[in-house]
Amino acid sequence: MHKIIIAIDGHSSCGKSTLARSLAQRLGYTYIDSGAMYRAVTLYLLRHGISAAERERIDAVLPKLQLSFNDKNEMLLNGENVEHEIRQMKVSNYVSEVAAVPEVRRAMVEQQQEMGRQRGIVMDGRDIGTVVFPDAELKIFLTASSQTRAQRRHEELRQKGYPSTIAEVEKNLAHRDHIDSTREDSPLKQAADAIIIDNTRLSREAQLARALELAHQAGATGSS
Ligand code: DC
Repeated sequence: MHKIIIAIDGHSSCGKSTLARSLAQRLGYTYIDSGAMYRAVTLYLLRHGISAAERERIDAVLPKLQLSFNDKNEMLLNGENVEHEIRQMKVSNYVSEVAAVPEVRRAMVEQQQEMGRQRGIVMDGRDIGTVVFPDAELKIFLTASSQTRAQRRHEELRQKGYPSTIAEVEKNLAHRDHIDSTREDSPLKQAADAIIIDNTRLSREAQLARALELAHQAGATGSS
């Protein structure tokens, strides 16, 4: 079976993880949520009262952080299941500041590249096609209108039982999009060879069908 690397990048809340997860499942690949890793680092810093501006302190604690995923793709921080906590607003509101710290990015990219050695992975994030796997066989850049993204995220948070208002969600998305796209170190941008999928008017099924078609064209032979 020929295994490829699939990179999915895009703004916050445009459905990257939904697509990446289902694509990985259909191909029999491993799904890796790179954003969860930045969220876990953020949670650790918040718990220890370390700000994103304290780069030396961050550099000193990074080697103490063991990040891994269990078989349900839930994030483990030093063995503790933090999946629930990293999705809360207190983390969402600070994660972009932490993800802009070069020391944090360097450590995360190293670990992500290591995870990709086995190939047969779908990884979603902001810099996967540009920095982490510039040679990925398939790069997808996912977009959706900002209104659609805010509505989807609001609904997702509600279903998961995290209280929020649509205004709060819109503000958080705009804040994160701005920092993620303008930071100096590996800002969110579309790789030159990425294929755009705008899912504003696409059903999940239609989006998955398109991505599977692209994966097969890129050489993936999987269980789909
Ligand atoms: O995908 P997400 O919303 O869970 O990501 C959380 C934050 O982490 C997001 O605001 C930007 C950052 N991030 C990043 O800088 N690079 C990645 N590869 C993934 C996420």
